[in-house]
Amino acid sequence: MRENPLVLHVLGARPNFVKAAPVVRGLDELGVRQGIIHTGQHYDALMSDVFFADLGLPSPVANLGVGSGTHAKQTAALLVGLEEVFMAQEPDLVIVYGDVNSTLAAILVCAKLGVPTAHVEAGLRSFDRGMPEEVNRIVTDSLSDLLFATSPEALSYLAAEGVPAAKTHLVGNPMIDSLFAALPSLDPAPVVERLGIPSRYAVATLHRPANVDSPEAALELVSAVLDVAAQIPLVVPMHPRGRAQLAAVGLVEGPNVKVVDPLGYVDFLSLVRGAALVVTDSGGVQEETTMLGVPCLTVRPNTERPITVTHGTNKLVTPAGLPAAASKALSDGAATPAGELPVLWDGASGPRIARVVASWLKGENLSPASRNGRL
Ligand code: UD1
Ligand code: UDP
Repeated sequence: MRENPLVLHVLGARPNFVKAAPVVRGLDELGVRQGIIHTGQHYDALMSDVFFADLGLPSPVANLGVGSGTHAKQTAALLVGLEEVFMAQEPDLVIVYGDVNSTLAAILVCAKLGVPTAHVEAGLRSFDRGMPEEVNRIVTDSLSDLLFATSPEALSYLAAEGVPAAKTHLVGNPMIDSLFAALPSLDPAPVVERLGIPSRYAVATLHRPANVDSPEAALELVSAVLDVAAQIPLVVPMHPRGRAQLAAVGLVEGPNVKVVDPLGYVDFLSLVRGAALVVTDSGGVQEETTMLGVPCLTVRPNTERPITVTHGTNKLVTPAGLPAAASKALSDGAATPAGELPVLWDGASGPRIARVVASWLKGENLSPASRNGRL
């Protein structure tokens, strides 16, 4: 390893920023030389800049500006842009996050250039290859050198796919580190006042292609969501992906529906913290509601985060089942998580990942203790 090794983080989409912030902070505290490469997959200020500000992330050393496109066009632009950056910067390790196209592209480029990689949030599986994210997860995990898992079942999936245990590390959930760090600033009152909604409300976020891309699926979903809105005032911070399609089938401003632009991280989590109910198809929001003890109905046939169902407040629902499930959740009142909260979701995952990375950079042998979050 070089004298002063360089770590690059590849970030492209909203959830990446939330997961990376604690890792960047952890590495900073250990004096590791590092930089952020922003691919530009998400580029609207409300999908990107606001997260750098809210999370205290340092400015990227490069922004590739790849923007939107079909999977092939976007991934191709990512491959070309990332290869140029890595060839110029010669990183000793590249860290990728989650399951977005930027993650997939970075791992492919590194594999071909022989650059070692680490994957944060390894081993999640929905077992639904119709989801673009599932394809990205499988490829990313199969090519990563260090795999950081957020939950024990992720480790078992990696083992079943033949990933050597020596590469895997159970570290907890850095997205929850960010939530813990933001907790003192999470106050629903000013957001509720600004949005002009009553103090008892529900929040919905929807952006999965299977839910919002086709007019048929979007219509079925929106009918169910409007039924929820008939039960409780509903705020919908609208992801750009669903904006046009959901509006076309009727998810528009109404007496009980407030449709707004995507919210910044602190504003959004403030709203979630004060909500009586959250309806979502987001991956991260399933985890955040579990930690905040807010009832969450996930409108999907599966989840790659089953721990939020077994140890948290999350329930999977079909669009047809959503209204009744919402009615029950609202009458049952505040949910207490079903049992113990997920292991190591304690706000210390970023430092854990940083310690493993720093040891790895020094060429130290990583012990079984580090693999179980005890380093
Ligand atoms: C991506 C990820 C998804 C993740 C989500 C988080 C992939 C394959 N999908 O989905 O896993 O859950 O981010 O939010 O990587 N758009 C804008 N402004 C932006 C960004 C996007 O208007 O700043 C619009 C464009 O019309 C674009 C569409 O949103 O075509 C989809 O963006 P894209 O990055 O391809 O995927 P997401 O649906 O955001
Ligand atoms: N989020 C946000 N504003 C919003 C909606 C979501 O700050 O209007 C945050 C949310 O708290 C979580 C992250 O964005 O930290 C999740 O991103 P998203 O749902 O886009 O992606 P996914 O987790 O489904 O991949």
